[in-house]
Amino acid sequence: MSLENLQHNINHVAIIMDGNGRWAKMRSHPRVWGHVRGTSVVSDIVQEADDLKIKSLTMYAFSSENWSRPQTEVRVLFNLLYKFLRKERERILKNNIRFRIMGDVTNLPVQTQTLISQLEQETFYNTGLNLTFAFGYGGRAEIAFAINKFIAENPGKKITDEDLSSNLMIPELGDVDLLIRTGGDHRVSNFMLWQIAYAEMFFTDTKWPDFTVTEFRYIIEQISKRERRFGAISATDNLASNIIIARENQKIIRVQDV
Ligand code: IPE
Ligand code: IPE
Ligand code: MG
Repeated sequence: MSLENLQHNINHVAIIMDGNGRWAKMRSHPRVWGHVRGTSVVSDIVQEADDLKIKSLTMYAFSSENWSRPQTEVRVLFNLLYKFLRKERERILKNNIRFRIMGDVTNLPVQTQTLISQLEQETFYNTGLNLTFAFGYGGRAEIAFAINKFIAENPGKKITDEDLSSNLMIPELGDVDLLIRTGGDHRVSNFMLWQIAYAEMFFTDTKWPDFTVTEFRYIIEQISKRERRFGAISATDNLASNIIIARENQKIIRVQDV
């Protein structure tokens, strides 16, 4: 499929990059090898999202629950983030990408925190792809954050769902249109709980290190064909109020009769 032919209506894609550990285990490697291989897939998918003119790509890289993993694994994940940012910095700048981290990074090594804030500042005015890594991130914590922020700024006021949306960690990312999870599990694992209210979901058995640009494009194409109704009905399904909906016992029943 050529890029030119792929029309889509998807603004915000969120990805749960899962299956690294199992991918490595299947190959008799330590789990962390899966993270190493998974990192290069991140670069490919970022490039592709940019080429496809997707507005926002949010990638789940480390959850608040992932702190419970062995220290060595956590350290490898930190190192990979650092290396990724160093390696990709030039490309991010060249491609006008706005880079941000969403989550709590206060426990990351200082040099990684410095690199993150440098890149966030350097890309602050960029107008291309919004690339966000969810790191040290939890969806429930984000909702609590939004409520607390609102209460602090509006004491005594009731919070509405619009208020909650506008007080999230990065409000301008908006709702997620498409949530992809690799690795075969069908769950959301505390990822963007508020923003996925009406997201289309795509679960693939492919483990993250095996995920390709081709599969990514296939998913975008498939999802673009889905009808999103947001609680309404299809535009073509509108009923005139006097239409006959059934005939029972020689009686005609119209919409207005029910
Ligand atoms: C996802 O892969 C990466 C992170 C959670 C950091 P996993 O490490 O969860 O891989 P599996 O699910 O154990 O295979
Ligand atoms: C979700 O994967 C978190 C990330 C991909 C960063 P997990 O592997 O942590 O999720 P569970 O434990 O299977 O729910
Ligand atoms: Mg996992």
